[in-house]
Formats: sequence, C-alpha cells, structure tokens
Amino acid sequence: MTEHLTHVTHPLVQHKLTLMRKTDTSTAVFRQLLREISQLLAYEVTRNLPMTTRTIDTPLEPMDAPVLDGKKLALVSILRAGNGLLDGILELIPSARVGFVGLYRDEETLKPVQYYFKVPTELEDRLVIAVDPMLATGNSSVAAIDLLKKAGAKNIRFLCLLAAPEGIARMKEAHSDVPIVTAAVDSHLNDNGYIVPGLGDAGDRMFGTK
Ligand code: URA
Repeated sequence: MTEHLTHVTHPLVQHKLTLMRKTDTSTAVFRQLLREISQLLAYEVTRNLPMTTRTIDTPLEPMDAPVLDGKKLALVSILRAGNGLLDGILELIPSARVGFVGLYRDEETLKPVQYYFKVPTELEDRLVIAVDPMLATGNSSVAAIDLLKKAGAKNIRFLCLLAAPEGIARMKEAHSDVPIVTAAVDSHLNDNGYIVPGLGDAGDRMFGTK
C-alpha cells in the first residue's frame, strides 16, 4: 500500500457504521455489524497482496492460476477490542496466523500499559495486520506497533473502524511506514480520550460491559 491513510467510503461500510454508532444498538447487533464491517475492511487492507501463479488442472485444461504468494499473514489483535475484528477476518483468511497484544489504557495518563504479548513465529517474513477498532490518541496503537517491530515485523498494516485526526497524526509521526485502513475519520478526541462523535467504548459495546 502506498497511501498512509485509506478511508473506506463504501456505502455498506458507512451504513453499518452508522448503525453501530447509535446508542440504542444492542450488544448482539453491534457485534454482528462489527464482524460484517471487519470483512469489508479486510477486503481493502488485503487489496494489493503479492500474488504468484500455480499450475492447476481445470476440467478442460491445465492453467497457471493466481494464488497468494509468501508466508501466511499474521493478524494481531490489540486486546481486548481488537478481538471484535478477528473472527470476521479469519473467515476470509482462514489460514492466517493470529497474535495478541495486551495493552490497557491508564485512564489518568491515557498511556498504554502492556500486560500480554504473544505473536506468530517468523514475523519478519509475514505481512502483519494489526487490528483495533478505535484509533484514538494513537498511544496504544503506536506502542503495539513498537512491540511488533521489536519482535521482527517489517511489513505492518493497521486496520481500524474509527480514527481520530490526533491518532492518525501520532501514527504517521511514529510509524509512517504503517498504512492505516479505516471506515471513518471523526472530528476530535474529548478530554477523556474518546473519539467524538464516535460510538463510545468499543470494548464495552461489543462485550456488554460497562
Ligand atoms: N477507545 C474506545 O473504545 N472508544 C473511544 O472513543 C476511544 C478509545
């Protein structure tokens, strides 16, 4: 990908996102919509994956047919909200390897604190797609990508549902080599680090916690 930011404006994505933003959307519907959008965003984030050909036999004749090239890609969920994006993407890319980065946001400093890190081997040879629905301050995304790079990842993309301009700028400054794919760029962050207008706390909304 050459663009630092890809804003997916597809009507289905935008319609589903509007439903997700609404306060009265239930946990079950929110989760289902997130799963559906994750697949549409995955379509964009994998648009230019490297391809090769393999000779196959069709019922009529052999052909050199296109297949994905390279090692199986790695999906990395930034816990816990990233998990809401995982299942849908894994349905599209079932052979992907999966990693987890556990970071929580200190509600006072808004800084990320690491509590878990487990990623696939040979990260340096894989495309790594880090997923987190909300790119807010960018602090946890930048920290997660720092960790992935430290673990060897060289080719990373970041997939989110909503992004704040502050988070996009922070990511660009820290990791200009990591393209971002998002369904929306909202207005700003409030004093608590929430995206406005946003959709509230993505983890709470998908898991029904408060
Ligand atoms: N995380 C969320 O879940 N929502 C926001 O608005 C910001 C960070």
